[in-house]
Amino acid sequence: MTRIVVRPANKPLSGSVPVPSDKSIGHRAFIFASLARGKSRIRSFSYGEDNVATMKAFAAMGVGVEDDAQGTVTVLGRGLSELSAPADPIDCGNSGTTMRLLAGVLAAQPFRSRMIGDASLSRRPMGRVARPLRARGACIEGAAHPTRKDEITAPLDIGPLAPGVRLTGLEYRIPVASAQVKSALLLSGLFASGPTIVFEPLLSRDHTERMLSALGVPIRAAGTMVSLEPPDDPGIIREFDVELPGDLSASAFLLCAAEIVEGSVVTTRRTGLNPTRTGIIDVIRAFGGTIAAEPQGDVLGEPFGAVTARASSLVASPVGGELATRAIDEIPIACSLAARARGTTVFSDVGELRVKESDRIARVVALLRDFGVSAEESEEGFVVEGRPDGRLRAARVTSHGDHRIAMTACVLGLVAEGETVVEDADCIATSFPRFVGTLRALGADIEVSA
Ligand code: S3P
Repeated sequence: MTRIVVRPANKPLSGSVPVPSDKSIGHRAFIFASLARGKSRIRSFSYGEDNVATMKAFAAMGVGVEDDAQGTVTVLGRGLSELSAPADPIDCGNSGTTMRLLAGVLAAQPFRSRMIGDASLSRRPMGRVARPLRARGACIEGAAHPTRKDEITAPLDIGPLAPGVRLTGLEYRIPVASAQVKSALLLSGLFASGPTIVFEPLLSRDHTERMLSALGVPIRAAGTMVSLEPPDDPGIIREFDVELPGDLSASAFLLCAAEIVEGSVVTTRRTGLNPTRTGIIDVIRAFGGTIAAEPQGDVLGEPFGAVTARASSLVASPVGGELATRAIDEIPIACSLAARARGTTVFSDVGELRVKESDRIARVVALLRDFGVSAEESEEGFVVEGRPDGRLRAARVTSHGDHRIAMTACVLGLVAEGETVVEDADCIATSFPRFVGTLRALGADIEVSA
């Protein structure tokens, strides 16, 4: 298993770097290219393992995929009515987004399918997609959840729908904001006999809505409500050519590193700036960090631009509510800001972190303590005592298979006294295969050791 060694930064991080393409947008681009009728081209593909899982899933259902191994993938989509039964179980690896979004597509098919995942994914709750999909006529069975009696998890066995039977219309209130659940319901709605109407308590990332609209599918979004009429034409999704924008969730590790390593100035290029995703930029600003986003264009309804962060003296600021939803995947790395800020940071309304790739509340609190930072957890959040002066304590830690915990540990290592070792770091490849090389290019003393 790969281990990463990080030494304290003795010079500023500096430079302008690319980041891998947006993982959430990448999943959706593959899904819609597969459901379009015709030839689509997806450029700047990141080869992150999560996105590769989605690509392979559709290839297994008869979608033609040509990959030039240089980041351009051509997809020969089959329209809404011609997917074929996969011969083997679909392996979603570590990717909850693959499993939950695909559940929406598979639930509507006239064939039976099975989805499996790695150890982490096989502990994550799948009832949140199974329940509303069943309510519209889908047949979904899962394994008993290891700790929660009324919950199911992977493997998921889905379908088949009887010949001529379609899913019904659905009106559903999602109890906890979730783009994965919302997207699964919208995807299943493309195949249904009636409209899909979804309400969320807070608006989660809206990539599915933006992409559907950009590809010619009428969809209406108003605040936290979205509705979709099933299309009459199975060829409604038009083929497309897209250069995926960069992933702000990956960029966030570099931007936060720049904020805490003295004298740094770091720019990430062509970075996604969808407002439902830019919570981390607002968090950095709320901490008194210097950060600027320069919009440069948009693609499939997704704005992107250059983002530049400069090292700043940080002051603790609470993170909760809507801000926490818009920064949910960035809460682990936001801890690096809290660790270096003057004052106490309260993270609230982040109970969802307990069911991500790991229990991120428990993991982040343990990680901070390993680096000599005081932190306390509660059910729905945690509190961090900042240590703005002096260096943190270098640590030997393990990622427990969670890519965002591994990368957060590396960033903390940049401001720690001594050598930090991050074990079980292969998981970084799920979202940011070139993480170590990118940090090195910015001047960090970081390396992979066997
Ligand atoms: C994602 C939605 C979020 C996020 C995940 C990606 C997506 O999960 O945490 O990394 O692409 O739809 P939830 O839907 O569980 O909030």
